[in-house]
Formats: sequence, C-alpha cells, structure tokens
Amino acid sequence: MNYENLDQILNRALKQIDDLKNDAPMSDLIDIKNRYLAKKSELMSILATLGSLDPKQRKNVGQKVNDVKRQIVDAIDTKQKIIEKHALNQKLVNEKIDISLPGKNYISGYTNPFFIIKKEITNIFLNMGYEVVEGPEVESDHNNFELLNIPKDHPARDMQDSFWFDPNTLLRTHTSAVQAHAMQEANGKPLRIICPGKVYRRDNDDATHSHQFAQIEGLLIDKNINMGHLKATLELFLRRLFGQDRQIRLRSSFFPFTEPSVEVDISCANCHGKGCPMCKGSGYIEILGGGMVHPNVLKMNGYDPDVYSGFAFGLGIERIAILKYGIDDIRRIYTNDVRFLHQFKKSD
Ligand code: PHE
Repeated sequence: MNYENLDQILNRALKQIDDLKNDAPMSDLIDIKNRYLAKKSELMSILATLGSLDPKQRKNVGQKVNDVKRQIVDAIDTKQKIIEKHALNQKLVNEKIDISLPGKNYISGYTNPFFIIKKEITNIFLNMGYEVVEGPEVESDHNNFELLNIPKDHPARDMQDSFWFDPNTLLRTHTSAVQAHAMQEANGKPLRIICPGKVYRRDNDDATHSHQFAQIEGLLIDKNINMGHLKATLELFLRRLFGQDRQIRLRSSFFPFTEPSVEVDISCANCHGKGCPMCKGSGYIEILGGGMVHPNVLKMNGYDPDVYSGFAFGLGIERIAILKYGIDDIRRIYTNDVRFLHQFKKSD
C-alpha cells in the first residue's frame, strides 16, 4: 500500500464530485458517496487491512486514509449543499408569483337596509329585556283574527284581507298571530316579547305598498301596566332608532285588539315639527300603531284582565327603513339592485 494509491483515490473522488453539475440529481452524489465511502469501497478495504501492518506504517497509513476520507466527506457535503440550493432556487423560479398581475376582484355583498333596520330594532328591544318569538306564516283564522278580537263579521277584517287556502287557513296578515300563540303558551304568566316576521295582505303593489312585507310586533303583559309604560317604551325605542332629538306624539286610533289604541308619530327629521313638504305640513310622520291589550284578548288567551294588563305595538320594517334612509320606493328593498344596495354598509 502506498500513498500514491490513496492520492489517486482522493483525486479521482474529488474530480468526480467536482464534475457533478449543480443540477445533477442527488442520487448521483449518493452513488459517489457509496463508491468511495461504503464498507466495501477501495478506501475502506485499505482501512480494514491496517491490522496487518507494522505499527509505524499502521499509524501513517491510518492517518492518511482518515485524511482522504475526511476530504471526500467534506467535498460531498459541500456539493450536497450546492445541489440542494440549486434545486430550491429552481423551485422558487418555477413557482414565482407575479405580483404585478391584476388580482381577482371579489365583490362582497352589502346588507340590504331591511336587515340593517331589523337588526337595529331587535337589538334595542333585546336590550330592554324582550325576547324574540317567531311563528308560522300559514295561520288559522282563529289565531290570526278571532283570538285577537276580530270575529268573523268584523269590518276590521276588510283592512287585512289576505290569501286564503281554505275558509279557515290563510297567510297571516300580521305577526299579532304569533302573540296569540305566545299568550296561549305563557299559561297566564307575564310576557315581554317581540315577534318579527313576514306578513301578507291583498294589496295593489305600488311605491308604498306590497302584498308581502314584514312586521315587528311587541307585547308586554304584567300586573299594573298602563299607557305610561307604552309611551315611555316607544319613546325610548324611537329615540334610540331615529335620534334623541325626535319628539313622539300619540294620536287616538282604533285596533280591535287594543283599547285604548294609538297611532304613534315622530317629529319630522327635516323641520322638527314645524311642518314642511316632507311631512306634508303636519310636522310629524306616522310610524307605528299600538295600545293597551283589549280585555277580551287577555281573557281569550288565558289572562285575568282584572289582575293583568299589557300593551302591544306593531310596526312595518320596510316603512321604518324607508323613513330612516329616505328610500323613494318600497320595491327597491325587494329587488336587490346592487347600485341601490352599495349605498349601505357592507355585511358583517
Ligand atoms: N297588528 C296591527 C297591524 O298589523 C299592528 C298593531 C299591533 C297595532 C299591536 C296595535 C297593537 O296593523
């Protein structure tokens, strides 16, 4: 065994490593590694014969073999890093994202003002401790009319003509029908609820009417409830919705299910009650109806009118949206034209 031989091995190995191109597959480098460093390689078999050499030679040859081995290992490590780096760069080039390209424009939706208002109204009442109750849109004559003190021949039915499935079943004309359900279920216990939902009436559709619209009706039943509570509740609600500077006015009215009944107006945002074209000179705008729950209604729905009293009110969601946002036609709320919708805040 002479050093020349070892040098030849080293030079050959280094040359083969060096000749490997930077984009060579890693397996080529592993082949070289096996060729020179595996157990049966020339270099390693020299190492295996060390035992048969005399001690002096053993030391010299041993050192030289280890030196050659280390150089080959180093060269392989270096080459491995180069190949890996090259592969990574290549990958980065291939996967390069051109950030100068125009992106895809995703148009996110806008909230229909109907839902903005519905949420605002609901939140105001939730904060006052009311519970939201919903009910069916297909109702019995009994729930929609009779339990609300509107018997079969009552003229008030004309104002709420609807779509009938049969003589006893119709699309509900108001969400007061849900209140009837809630009262029946409450079993004579106090109630504090709002009922949002779609209602249907036979109406000719125009800028201010639709055969389908939505209401939120409220009902509170407890001991010692009077008109003062109704007025204070609606004043708080309407000022939260429209602004603290608005005045509230109650006008006497008629609903079969409330007695006394009122129409509730708020002062015109434009003239603050003086009278202007917007409020048709009256200074006020009609906003909702309400009243003290009629003793007949209490009785029919399981309450003793001598112990319990209550108030109820009802409003049209679209009407409130129209008033709050100055919308010129109710149909804009239903058609979902994005040019209309984009004036309102984005959905959250
Ligand atoms: N139900 C009435 C309507 O649809 C509104 C209302 C509810 C009035 C409760 C008074 C009390 O017009």
